[in-house]
Amino acid sequence: MGIEFRGVTKQYPDGTVAVDDLSLTVEDGTITVFVGPSGCGKTTSLRMINRMVEPTSGAVLLDGKDVRESDPPVLRRGIGYVIQNAGLFPHRTVLDNVATVPLLSGWGKRKARDRAAELLTTVGLPEELGKRYPAQLSGGQQQRVGVARALAADSPVLLMDEPFSAVDPIVREGLQDELLRLQSRLGKTIVFVTHDIDEAVRLGDKVAVMRVGGKLAQYGTPAEVLRHPVDDFVASFVGRDRGYRGLSFVESDGVEVKDVATVALGETLAGAVGDWRLAVNADGHPRGWLAPETTVDGPLAEEDLVAGGSLYQRGTAVRGALDAALSSPSGLGVVVDDDGRVVGAVTARQILDVLESRA
Ligand SMILES: Nc1ncnc2c1ncn2[C@@H]1O[C@H](COP(=O)(O)OP(=O)(O)OP(=O)(O)O)[C@@H](O)[C@H]1O
Ligand SMILES: [Mg+2]
Repeated sequence: MGIEFRGVTKQYPDGTVAVDDLSLTVEDGTITVFVGPSGCGKTTSLRMINRMVEPTSGAVLLDGKDVRESDPPVLRRGIGYVIQNAGLFPHRTVLDNVATVPLLSGWGKRKARDRAAELLTTVGLPEELGKRYPAQLSGGQQQRVGVARALAADSPVLLMDEPFSAVDPIVREGLQDELLRLQSRLGKTIVFVTHDIDEAVRLGDKVAVMRVGGKLAQYGTPAEVLRHPVDDFVASFVGRDRGYRGLSFVESDGVEVKDVATVALGETLAGAVGDWRLAVNADGHPRGWLAPETTVDGPLAEEDLVAGGSLYQRGTAVRGALDAALSSPSGLGVVVDDDGRVVGAVTARQILDVLESRA
């Protein structure tokens, strides 16, 4: 079920423009991440989907239908919603928390609880935890319960507002992995809000970078946003200025593309480089590899490079990624976009894991 924002503006009664003329389409069955600094209108945008906030102008369409045509309680029951700190009811058991929506939808108590127990397992929690109260769980466990409760709506759409931001980085990564695993099975349309660019590129099929004032700065795949930020705001937000960040993102085919250290042709290098670096031309096309410990006199030229390996064009058969990795002098297979520009690299080990997991 796709979601479309059509020229949506939200001005709060005090005059604050939280969202300014937002137009974008969230494709059916994908994860779209709204990312940006605090106050840029992420939560407001999300809440206009389930009518917790009404736009001042423009329209939000769910599966082609203006959400204003749906009764808010009915609409909300059909859209899973997860918020920071899970938003659990403190005086209800974990099981009853998860069973809330099925009960509201008129399921019998027994059936709702059975379903809730099943969902706890789905999100990786032991069923026994169902008897506890939220305060008796760790932060990470509470977030899982929040996800289970949202899944209980069994709706094709899931809205997640900074669901993992209150937990420590290790737990957070576990929750992200879990979400990607779930999503590969459930194929829901997920809108995920975060202010963390690493989380955004890790989870998103598409990333919408927003700036304060509620303006959409850039909307694209993680690779596009990382490699080709449209302006200085996006560039500094994704951290281009900080250079190589070790970012990685997971392609829809399950291949995790990691950031690769690059060096530009024509650049003058100070001293020898410590590790393999991919040389790119001004257009971002790969030109070869600079071997470790190479010392280059003057601007980097093609003759300083080791020619290297086949290229893997993202979105094509995964087998090609393996060929790229195996044929590369650095052991890193170069991944390029449709225009042949570098988006990152993969190792043979990773690709073998993906191929094996499918066998
Ligand atoms: N009910 C409200 N009345 C007036 N202004 C509001 C209201 N809710 C939010 N705002 C303002 O609208 C702007 C966008 O808020 P919003 O909560 O959508 O941002 P956000 O991107 O989710 O921020 P954060 O990352 O801090 O959660 C902010 O300037 C905020 O102060
Ligand atoms: Mg918010």
